[in-house]
Amino acid sequence: MVDPSDIDFYSLGFNFIETKTMFMANHRDGKWDGGRLIPYGDFEISPASCVLNYGQGIFEGMKALKTKNGEITLFRPEENAKRFNFSARRMLMPEYDVNNFLNAVKSVVKANEDYIPPYDSEGALYIRPILFGYGPILGVHSSEEFKFIIFTVPVGPYFPEGFKGIDLEISKEYTRAAPGGTGSAKTICNYAGTMLPAKQAKARGFAQIIYLDAVHMEFIEEVGAANFFAMINGKLATPRKTGTILEGITRESILELASKKLGLEIEERDISYKELFNESCTEVFCSGTAAVITPIASVNLEGNERVFNNRAPGKITNKIYELLTGIQRLDLEDEFGWMTKV
Ligand code: PLP
Ligand code: COI
Repeated sequence: MVDPSDIDFYSLGFNFIETKTMFMANHRDGKWDGGRLIPYGDFEISPASCVLNYGQGIFEGMKALKTKNGEITLFRPEENAKRFNFSARRMLMPEYDVNNFLNAVKSVVKANEDYIPPYDSEGALYIRPILFGYGPILGVHSSEEFKFIIFTVPVGPYFPEGFKGIDLEISKEYTRAAPGGTGSAKTICNYAGTMLPAKQAKARGFAQIIYLDAVHMEFIEEVGAANFFAMINGKLATPRKTGTILEGITRESILELASKKLGLEIEERDISYKELFNESCTEVFCSGTAAVITPIASVNLEGNERVFNNRAPGKITNKIYELLTGIQRLDLEDEFGWMTKV
């Protein structure tokens, strides 16, 4: 455990820092035990465990924030609980009761309260619930034993560029998910395969990859671990839910803010990468719990570059960022009932 007084909350990146307490529950003989808070630490599992051999695991990502008057908030945590269970079903794992999930998250956040970055640091306590099959197996089938763990890490911006705008490369080489696969589940397997493409893109100077659909290699899916948005012909467009993208909670919230607060026309549709090279596309950004709203300064494909807005965040991107983070930090009224206090 790192002593909270040794942490500079004002210069955090998105890196692992060990905090004090984690939550752990076990599923054996067909049922969950009550779960408990324990000191953060290692534990043993069998080399033959299902998660190590066949990747039977899922996770979620959430954030606890400090408000101006010192309250602790969570953003739509019940949506993470529901998506956790959606992912569990896809990976043939037991669901975790939504209320118990919320209570467990709150208890871990409370126990690690000293690690929540202060309001003016713009950091957050990242919350990572995981669920995996740890029973020993050999054939490819589900584990019979599962662990549900929640740990926390104080974080700053996901992209070191912060709200400055990132350069992205459109990949014509790699895909992330295919129809019928696991793209819309938050399973650990989806992420291991993106490490090599991301590393190669970084070596070429790009922050991440824009993945295209696996069938046509034309329609935008998402940006590494964030959803994609573009202002095209004055409308806010985002890839439709095809089953191959992770259905982001930030994505859903942005669509609501854009239509209800900014009066924008929104479109969930197939977006060809070619549209990004057209003047009718005026700004682009990506969204997620970790990425919040990150402006995209440029997109690149095989030597062709499209720079947006002289690399500055676009007007709509700015407005949506202000609305979303304003609500999350309770600087603005929580008019959609999204915030939960811990
Ligand atoms: N896409 C992927 C692949 C992700 O891992 C995430 C992060 O959870 C997102 C999109 C954004 O989802 P959310 O807004 O729920 O964090
Ligand atoms: C999140 O935004 O919470 C994510 O899960 C992204 C991540 C893989 C770092």
